[in-house]
Amino acid sequence: MPIKTCQITPFQDQKPGTSGLRKKTRAFMAPDYLEAFVQSIFDGIGGVDGKVFVLGGDGRFFNLEASQTILKMAAANGAARVIVGQDAILSTPAASHLIRLNKTDGGIILSASHNPGGEDEDFGVKFNTPNGGPAPEQVTEAIHARSKELTEYRILDAADVDLGTLGDQTLGEMTVSVVDPVADYADLMATLFDFTAIRAMFESGFRMRFDAMHAVTGPYAKALLEGALGAPEGTVVNGTPLPDFGGHHPDPNPFWAKALMDEMFSADGPDFGAASDGDGDRNMVVGRNIYVSPSDSLAVLAANAHLAPGYAKGIAGVARSMPTSAASDRVAEKLGIGSFETPTGWKFFGNLLDAGKATICGEESFGTGSDHVREKDGLWAVLLWLNVLAARGESVADILNAHWSEYGRNYYSRHDYEAIDSELANTLMDDLRGQLADLPGREIQGMTIAAADDFAYTDPVDGSVSTKQGVRIVMEDGSRIVLRLSGTGTEGATIRLYLEKYEPDTDKHGIDPQKALAPMIAAAEELAGIASRTGRDAPNVIT
Ligand code: G1P
Ligand code: ZN
Repeated sequence: MPIKTCQITPFQDQKPGTSGLRKKTRAFMAPDYLEAFVQSIFDGIGGVDGKVFVLGGDGRFFNLEASQTILKMAAANGAARVIVGQDAILSTPAASHLIRLNKTDGGIILSASHNPGGEDEDFGVKFNTPNGGPAPEQVTEAIHARSKELTEYRILDAADVDLGTLGDQTLGEMTVSVVDPVADYADLMATLFDFTAIRAMFESGFRMRFDAMHAVTGPYAKALLEGALGAPEGTVVNGTPLPDFGGHHPDPNPFWAKALMDEMFSADGPDFGAASDGDGDRNMVVGRNIYVSPSDSLAVLAANAHLAPGYAKGIAGVARSMPTSAASDRVAEKLGIGSFETPTGWKFFGNLLDAGKATICGEESFGTGSDHVREKDGLWAVLLWLNVLAARGESVADILNAHWSEYGRNYYSRHDYEAIDSELANTLMDDLRGQLADLPGREIQGMTIAAADDFAYTDPVDGSVSTKQGVRIVMEDGSRIVLRLSGTGTEGATIRLYLEKYEPDTDKHGIDPQKALAPMIAAAEELAGIASRTGRDAPNVIT
């Protein structure tokens, strides 16, 4: 089959962000755009000759067409084999697992995660390394550098591959192995959790609702919850993946998964609710009449992981992203295990997991995972919660209240201001950075600022340094304000304001977080002036 070499003018805007390259779908559909980025990945990792990769995506608009292009390019560039999910579907954690299970040279995941999908919405391409995790910064920088000078790409002039049929086919000299997207992942879950105990809990009448948000986890959740674990049919709602996610944001938080929240706070709500995002790596967990913040979920899972067979020997350490609350630090301290604070983005957990320093990791952005793969994993978190609920025989509310009584409560909230003019957002951040040196010792809203910096991280495994990872202003009692700009948005800038306040007193654990955090919110406005500078009177999303 003939290989076409196509000449192009190098693109200057293919810099991967927090999680791969995200753009409007139409940008990726423009002539040569996707092709240029894929060739840059291939070149940036030193070529693909004779290598084996995994390929799949979250099923959003353009997923299938992009997959066909990538397969033809992999074949033209000399790859030996690509393992691809049936119909080009793979959740991000399932892709991570397949990369590891098959000892491949990495994988390409097509997803813009929780961003909406469709021809006028978002698309994304991400490269994961042989450990199954998102490419670290050195690799994404090499890919970006290559894209800026790339003048040609290679693609096989061939008919599309039949991705609907399981089994091996050939594309030029390359083997394409179409696999069941769910099977290997489901097998892995069965090794980690006490399925017998969870099944018994469902048999005794435990009720759950899992909202798959018309995204990729539908088939996974049905196979595991309604299949292997015997939950009644109908437990999984919005379980059919759609290219536009039904027109919604497949983002599992109280704002975008409001229908689930309403159900969980209704008079006869289920015992347990959960949702996952576009590509299946995020999770939201809700009990009857009680919401579990992701930072608290991480802490509760770290404290209770030993109840699941896969973690019965205990965990080596807990890692959290810097803006995530310090609730999990308290658990690590009590357990006498490692505790790590990394920049935002799952790629920073990879080295800690590979080195066995951390077993469980989490982010405030509804991401939790462990060393079973190298991505955050929505269903994994849900199954671990189910395992903990089955083992303890208590409600979510009981478990959370007991946790707060033992460790204190880290009140927490994130305020997002979206689609802000990029220049304005950058100036706001620069002005704030300019004040940092003078802030320690200053009184604000009845509190004293103890420290203020722009977070920099030195990876304890490979010594690599990442700077400018978010401004943090810490009060004397440990309460914090963190500000950073999103690295995943596709329109203007998104300012993320993270607020945290520690409350040891059990009598004060029942306050609405926005009320408990009011002094922090006021202090943030006084220091950064988001409302006054942007003219926004409220955040777009509060989680
Ligand atoms: C966001 C989250 C971050 C997460 C990433 C990918 O990135 O804040 O924690 O790792 O999505 O899911 P951001 O847009 O803030 O750069
Ligand atoms: Zn995601």
